[in-house]
Amino acid sequence: MKVTIFGTGYVGLVTGACLAEVGHQVLCVDVDEQKVAKLKQGIIPIYEPGLASIVKSNHANGQLKFTSDGAEGVAHSTLQFIAVGTPPDEDGSADLQYVLAVAETIGTHMQQDRVIIDKSTVPVGTADKVMAKVQSVLAARGSALKADVVSNPEFLKEGAAVSDFMRPDRIVIGTDNENSRTLMHELYSPFNRNHDRMIYMDTRSAELTKYAANAMLATKISFMNEIANLAERLGADVEKVRNGIGSDPRIGYHFIYPGCGYGGSCFPKDVQALARTAAEVGYQAPLLNAVESVNQHQKQVLFEKINQYFKGDLSGKTFALWGLAFKPNTDDMREAPSRVLMEALWAKGAKIQAFDPEAMEETQRIYGDRDDFQLVGTKEAALKNADALVICTEWQAFRAPDFDLLAERLKEKLICDGRNLYDPKLVKNKGLKYFGIGVGDSIATY
Ligand SMILES: NC(=O)c1ccc[n+]([C@@H]2O[C@H](COP(=O)([O-])OP(=O)(O)OC[C@H]3O[C@@H](n4cnc5c(N)ncnc54)[C@H](O)[C@@H]3O)[C@@H](O)[C@H]2O)c1
Repeated sequence: MKVTIFGTGYVGLVTGACLAEVGHQVLCVDVDEQKVAKLKQGIIPIYEPGLASIVKSNHANGQLKFTSDGAEGVAHSTLQFIAVGTPPDEDGSADLQYVLAVAETIGTHMQQDRVIIDKSTVPVGTADKVMAKVQSVLAARGSALKADVVSNPEFLKEGAAVSDFMRPDRIVIGTDNENSRTLMHELYSPFNRNHDRMIYMDTRSAELTKYAANAMLATKISFMNEIANLAERLGADVEKVRNGIGSDPRIGYHFIYPGCGYGGSCFPKDVQALARTAAEVGYQAPLLNAVESVNQHQKQVLFEKINQYFKGDLSGKTFALWGLAFKPNTDDMREAPSRVLMEALWAKGAKIQAFDPEAMEETQRIYGDRDDFQLVGTKEAALKNADALVICTEWQAFRAPDFDLLAERLKEKLICDGRNLYDPKLVKNKGLKYFGIGVGDSIATY
């Protein structure tokens, strides 16, 4: 089938490449001309495991094409995906300007009926807004062409996006239109062979399903962070508690890791946007608001511990920082807890030497050159003349460090672990001081 995808970010590029990989003929459209030019040269703008090879091979064999010409995208196919960003507006609601701009492009250029598929995460009622936009443009053109709008939210995880797309848990399709349903079934049938993963519903339920999924996952994290903060004050070990509750199949082990807060382009903005949607219909959503405020507090916890340890005097101190990306296997720095930590340390006059396997270019783009910041080529180089080590991202490469080297290099012999990567006893036996999130016998005193 022929498919057009507007937006070649984390979602659009993965969607386009995976649809091309199974044999569809995909045209990806992006307003960012530089991005399109790079993609045409085989330069992939983001780090996502497995993505580069399928983008390159499908571009080379002509299954996957790129353009910045919206009219060309609209002409290419009946199926028009919208996968552009929906960043938070000032009040936390989702900013729909990019989604509606695509709707306008489609309405302006379509010469035959079109099925528009919303893959961006959008508030309930957006499919109706997209439809209204297209219809108003068509009416202004005096056109009798027809469009249908389907909601098809995306559940992929950055860091495992290609495998999530190729082997989805579920494919949610929101539509009441029989023709659109048939087209979506055909489009996704290559991903649906092992068992039926298609879940059909109305557009509003599909839109809410995406927010509900992210809000549930964010709730699990904030809940566990609250238990971790409590464990510190009660002299309990949250990692033992995690094992204790995760073993209950009604709770499960997924997404109950305590840490220095959730980040990324989805959870923070989606929880806020859902709370905002709730407020708009007169419901205050106390749980959603609490999930968000627990997370904001949690992003400060590492800094608070460090500040307390050094008795508020961080001026001239140097911190080795392992991990910048909001989670492993991505270079995405959006809402990353490392940013909150770094900005708080800089405000107190501290210096940072940071290493991340993939996110250093993006970090450099965000912060530029600063006297109090150095990006270094290895995790060991970050330790040079450092007072303490701080960990913000649980990359595999950080899981079994040379603790003897750490004890030798770190002036304060201190590890502040925002991801609970190590066994506190083992670290202490190496002559290091250690605090994590809700673990280690030393934390309660800091
Ligand atoms: N990143 C994720 O893990 C993830 C997962 C599921 C859902 N989502 C949702 O998917 C949507 C896209 O997220 P993302 O992370 O891929 O965003 P992104 O910021 O990485 O990419 C968006 C792209 O859209 C392009 N764009 C903007 N306006 C355009 C237009 N009018 N025409 C064509 N291209 C245009 C931008 O230039 C950019 O390349 C969001 O709604 C997000 O919430 C994201």
